[in-house]
Amino acid sequence: MKNKWVWGLIAVMLVTVLAACGKSESKSEPASASPSASASTANSGSGNKKLVIGFAQIGAESGWRDAETKSIKDTFGNDPAFELKFSDAQQKQENQIKAIRSFITQKVDAIGLAPVVETGWESVLKEAKDAGIPVFLLDRGISKGNEDLYVSFIGSDFIKEGQNAAQWMIDNLGDAPTNIVQLEGTVGASAANDRKKGFEDAIKDKANFKIVYSQTGDFTRAKGKEVMEAYLKKDKNIQVVYAHNDDMAMGAIQAIEEAGLKPGTDIKIISIDGIKDAFQAIKDGKSNVTVECNPLLGPQLKQAILDYKAGKTLDKWIKSNEDVFFGQKAIDALPNRSY
Ligand code: AHR
Repeated sequence: MKNKWVWGLIAVMLVTVLAACGKSESKSEPASASPSASASTANSGSGNKKLVIGFAQIGAESGWRDAETKSIKDTFGNDPAFELKFSDAQQKQENQIKAIRSFITQKVDAIGLAPVVETGWESVLKEAKDAGIPVFLLDRGISKGNEDLYVSFIGSDFIKEGQNAAQWMIDNLGDAPTNIVQLEGTVGASAANDRKKGFEDAIKDKANFKIVYSQTGDFTRAKGKEVMEAYLKKDKNIQVVYAHNDDMAMGAIQAIEEAGLKPGTDIKIISIDGIKDAFQAIKDGKSNVTVECNPLLGPQLKQAILDYKAGKTLDKWIKSNEDVFFGQKAIDALPNRSY
């Protein structure tokens, strides 16, 4: 009888222990299968500490920028293995530098930076490096010679985007004499410098294409409109607007309409980004082409951070895949655009 009780007790204990093992296994299985869980393991060794990411964003100057911010917030905000510290610099480099210094003080695990301009990052990025915090550049680059200050640059080939914009013009306007207004992005930004270079190099041997005015519109709709209004007051002999982003093009379209001309017909509109408004303008016959620039970089940034933490070697430039949209192709793509 006594033996029976002892064996009964042992059986109950065994069942309890096995059930507990089963529970902890089913918890850890999906976690280790997901990249975010491997991040928490990489960080803490104990399996539960979040990876803290500081992101120094430029601002909210365009629809494209808003889409990029959303992609970052969604990616890291929806993953319990991460904690995101997000800073909006209102388009000021000094604010971005302050944000990076604060991330360093807070000992974040990684820093993401979309540099508003190319120059002036050496000191602060060296501080991050000295603190052992990896930096990832997103969307815009910094001046050459500083490659040891960041792990990877994730983003587009802006020179190629400028070339693609010029190519549409070459293919569609041929040898016709063409006066061009170039609305440039933020002064000193890699996106502005490279889109200008790509476009201007591509037309330098074509005598019929003449850039008659070129000025910054700071990547905003309001400035794009203001600059275009001023040009149209001086001179209406313009056949093309080449805008370094869609928002400035949208502003220019308004200015052209207010001046009594037809955007898309009297003045062809070429721009870069691929925001929904540009696709709608092409559908409405008010714009001609948008060269895509992918802002949905959150998942790539997350993957790069995880790969880095896992000890993998990353490409110095993780390039985005992009397309060029005009005519029926743009109209067909409009319903599926996510930004
Ligand atoms: O750096 C990318 C550029 O910045 C986008 O073309 C523009 O819309 C944004 O503000």
